[in-house]
Amino acid sequence: MTSTTAPARGTLLILNGPNLNLLGTREPGIYGSATLSDVEALTTAAAESAGFGASCLQSNHEGVLIDAIHAARGTAVGIIINAGAYTHTSVALRDAIAAVELPTVEVHISNVHKREEFRHHSYLSPVCSAVIVGAGIHGYELAVSALDKTLS
Ligand code: DQA
Repeated sequence: MTSTTAPARGTLLILNGPNLNLLGTREPGIYGSATLSDVEALTTAAAESAGFGASCLQSNHEGVLIDAIHAARGTAVGIIINAGAYTHTSVALRDAIAAVELPTVEVHISNVHKREEFRHHSYLSPVCSAVIVGAGIHGYELAVSALDKTLS
């Protein structure tokens, strides 16, 4: 996990779920050529220019993501999450987001609604403040922008 210090407006937790560590080499026709490091750098830069800090974590493990969401209560002012395939399977992640009551933006790099039917349903969307799909990695910057407004 990387973090910045002393942000004027508090810290945003940037969470990426399973297989997103493979960005850059994973199905580039769908997800593009940017790496996870690129995504974290652009999201952190967007957060910092809005006066936030950013704390970035990627994990392939559902429980690690849940623990990070729990820890955000009291340490972060908002969450940006691309939960990868857990989006479509995890009631536990949904319950964690609902429990911490932080504004949370769900991001998907691809337009999940143009893809297989099993990707059309998200357990997370009903407990998120905004959902951004299909904008590529720019979606993470749009998520910062959404939290900037929500938290102003
Ligand atoms: C994804 C879409 C999910 O369906 C998929 O399982 C991912 C990535 C996206 O960013 O487009 O891992 O969340």
